[in-house]
Amino acid sequence: MAEVTLDLRHEPKERAYAQLHAHIIGVLAGIDDDIAGMATMSALIHHAFRHLWTGFYRVVDSNLLQVGPYQGTLGCLQIDVGKGVCGTAAAERRTVIVPDVSRFPGHIACDSRARSEIVVPVSGRENQLIAVLDVDSERLAAFDKDDAYGLERIVRWFAGEGRG
Ligand code: SME
Repeated sequence: MAEVTLDLRHEPKERAYAQLHAHIIGVLAGIDDDIAGMATMSALIHHAFRHLWTGFYRVVDSNLLQVGPYQGTLGCLQIDVGKGVCGTAAAERRTVIVPDVSRFPGHIACDSRARSEIVVPVSGRENQLIAVLDVDSERLAAFDKDDAYGLERIVRWFAGEGRG
């Protein structure tokens, strides 16, 4: 198994995500377990870009997200679907990019250093919503469509893409 944790901060995003995706798929080869996938992705995405917080909130019933594997400081344990950025992404089942969290009504601040955020919905094999991937940055406007594309591609592993 690959043992390197990539540092991709100085790569153009498109190339960074291409490398990161290939690395994650390689590390997870032969693994068929969602929690192992979430833990591995959290670690590799987080350290590749040195984000503030990177992790998953799992759908545990139709109204509740519960924290899953993550990297960073203590995350909120539960978020109602529809609340905050994570709950909005889950309720609307779309990627939400927030360039300035102070301008997002209802933003939930787990770490006061967070300035911008992206949340990507995660679908399972039956196209059901199983989680959201939340990434937070200390920088304003850290995320754009390249992050959305790159992260959405990575989490397609949970729907079976590249999963062996
Ligand atoms: N900021 C998120 C909550 C999760 S933490 O940042 C880890 C939100 O508003 O949904």
